[in-house]
Amino acid sequence: MGGVTRRGFITQSAAAGAFGAAAGRVLHAQGSKMDSSTAPQGAPNVTDDAHVPPAYRGFLRKNVHDLPTPALLIDLDVFEKNIRTMVDSVKGKPCVVRPHGKAHKSSAIAKMQIAMGARGNCAAKLGEADPLVRGGVHDVLVTAPVVGPVKIKRLMDLMAIAPEIKVVVDNEQNASDLSAAALAAKRKLKVLIDVNVGQNRTGVEPVDAEKLAQAIAKLKGLELIGLQGYGGNNQHINGFDARKAREMTSNEKVVAARQGLEKAGFGVQVVSVGGTGTYNIDSEVPGITEIQPGSFIFMDSHYNKIGSRDQSAAYSDFGNSLMVLTTVISRPATGSRVVIDAGGKALSMDESVPEAMDVTGVTYSVSGDEYGSLRWQNAPNRDLKVGDQVFITPGHCDTTVNLYNVFFGVRKGVVEHVWPIEGRGRSD
Ligand SMILES: Cc1ncc(COP(=O)(O)O)c(C=O)c1O
Repeated sequence: MGGVTRRGFITQSAAAGAFGAAAGRVLHAQGSKMDSSTAPQGAPNVTDDAHVPPAYRGFLRKNVHDLPTPALLIDLDVFEKNIRTMVDSVKGKPCVVRPHGKAHKSSAIAKMQIAMGARGNCAAKLGEADPLVRGGVHDVLVTAPVVGPVKIKRLMDLMAIAPEIKVVVDNEQNASDLSAAALAAKRKLKVLIDVNVGQNRTGVEPVDAEKLAQAIAKLKGLELIGLQGYGGNNQHINGFDARKAREMTSNEKVVAARQGLEKAGFGVQVVSVGGTGTYNIDSEVPGITEIQPGSFIFMDSHYNKIGSRDQSAAYSDFGNSLMVLTTVISRPATGSRVVIDAGGKALSMDESVPEAMDVTGVTYSVSGDEYGSLRWQNAPNRDLKVGDQVFITPGHCDTTVNLYNVFFGVRKGVVEHVWPIEGRGRSD
């Protein structure tokens, strides 16, 4: 394995742009002593292997280059800065951050976010909510409808542990089923009406929110606490002004639904919207109480390019903390390419193409489930030999995280945490 002195640095890709101090940042190992002095208070500090799944034991305090590749890494300095930036962005505003756990699927990370000032977490599915709740994170909003007796029973099981759990609804029959189950469990389930603000996925039309609210009001097992209006179609619009214009249209819809409910006498405590691409647009809108961004903790090559408020082409609000460490396993005698050990099972390709972080002039492509290629037209900035390692920025963080069992949290080249991804593969 290559030593840190040989190639133990990461230069942010051009697409990552000028993420302040992160550009050109080094990830040098500084001896074997772990420096956790900068770790946020309350962060889970997994420093003993007993908490680590057996296959991933023995790596704590080791050099990052000694990990078996492909390995999913978090640069802890960048990661913590990303969380601080997001939490600080709502300071002084009547808006909280409820990070979406669909990005990390890990109770350790959810707890860390909460310790740093977030309000609970979101989960897209019960399969994501389950490890959060059982891992001690009780204030969870499930952002997709929970439908059918099997799922509703599982929701009730989670509510027995976490009475604060909340779920969105967009259908009267589903609301009625949830209410019956909650009543049978002698509990009251908190619900938010999901409003379609333009994504045309789930959600009632804004004008129909009041009708559903009236139906929920008759159901003794439910407590209506507010609205969700997620504009997923707006998050990756390139250019801040264009993105803002579209997201404001979406926000107007959910705020109008809020006003309609209030006019009809309903109290609206929560209006939850937004993601990483629109966090600083949403939190400034009167009537919105909560933002639910997920990807900001990691970022990916897709988000890197959407543009910032200062009109720069790169999205520099958050740095690339997530990376996959890979190894060159073959170099053909002829041709301008090498083969690395990360293919379709290690790097998702659904939204954007992964990018090498510490080699310039190469393009990644999948060459099979277990193989990837780095190709070049002109010689890359460093020679790539069999055994060399390359850091890759995922194209899409959520779907790449879903491929791994653990995150290796790394600071200055040393493995400081091994965090299980308990929700990986759990789309149920
Ligand atoms: C309902 C909902 N809220 C929030 C998010 C977070 O979005 P992002 O990861 O872009 O911040 C998503 C992502 O798909 C989502 O589906």
